[in-house]
Amino acid sequence: MAPILVTGGTGTLGRLVVSRLREAGCDVRVLSRQGREATAGVQFVVGDLITKDGLEAAVGGVATIVHCASSAKGDARATHNLVHAASSVAPAPHLVYISIVGVDQVSFGYMRSKLEAERIVAESGLPWTILRVTQFYDLILTGARTAQSLPLIPVPAGFLVQPIDPAEVAIRLVELALGEPVGRVPDMVARRYRAPRTASADTSG
Ligand SMILES: NC(=O)c1ccc[n+]([C@@H]2O[C@H](COP(=O)([O-])OP(=O)(O)OC[C@H]3O[C@@H](n4cnc5c(N)ncnc54)[C@H](OP(=O)(O)O)[C@@H]3O)[C@@H](O)[C@H]2O)c1
Repeated sequence: MAPILVTGGTGTLGRLVVSRLREAGCDVRVLSRQGREATAGVQFVVGDLITKDGLEAAVGGVATIVHCASSAKGDARATHNLVHAASSVAPAPHLVYISIVGVDQVSFGYMRSKLEAERIVAESGLPWTILRVTQFYDLILTGARTAQSLPLIPVPAGFLVQPIDPAEVAIRLVELALGEPVGRVPDMVARRYRAPRTASADTSG
């Protein structure tokens, strides 16, 4: 079976995606800027989505690409370079991209770049799937820890947070990667937690 390339396979989400793909019996190739020892079924290719080094080797012969790599400067340029490299692969690989819920409603740099990356994927000519999800628990925790040392916490009007477990996102992403390309799929948000009703709280009779 052709390997599945995971960009960002060393990151928070990508690591979880790699291990789910392994559980599903897939051979995995990970693109990383740092070399690493191969492990059972996981090969590492050194490459950089911005400089384009190693991209040809990374995409060669893959059937599917799960694009999880990201940096603070945003994803547009990296995604453009990935699409360009993947377009030379025959048959065209299925490109699965992870994005963020509300990316089209917030217009600061990182989100703008993600929206642009979505457009690049959708217009790539490759078979594609895009999943938007909400922020991961650890990102919200890091933000809250940083904020607790501030005298005031500036929060933009209408700011909503509904964090999600990246392990759940990895399960969904792998399901999509192993399926047919379906374009943009419904957004994924955390399941709402409802406190169990207790006898004393339940006064409705
Ligand atoms: N974190 C969240 O709350 C959240 C919420 C919704 C969606 N997402 C999306 O989920 C994706 C993964 O997020 P994450 O938090 O798991 O990311 P992360 O932990 O910050 O990992 C980023 C990954 O990107 C790779 N990378 C960065 N620049 C690269 C470059 N120039 N070339 C090749 N690889 C590069 C890094 O690999 P090396 O360092 O090994 O090269 C690393 O594996 C992103 O697209 C993000 O927008 C995240």
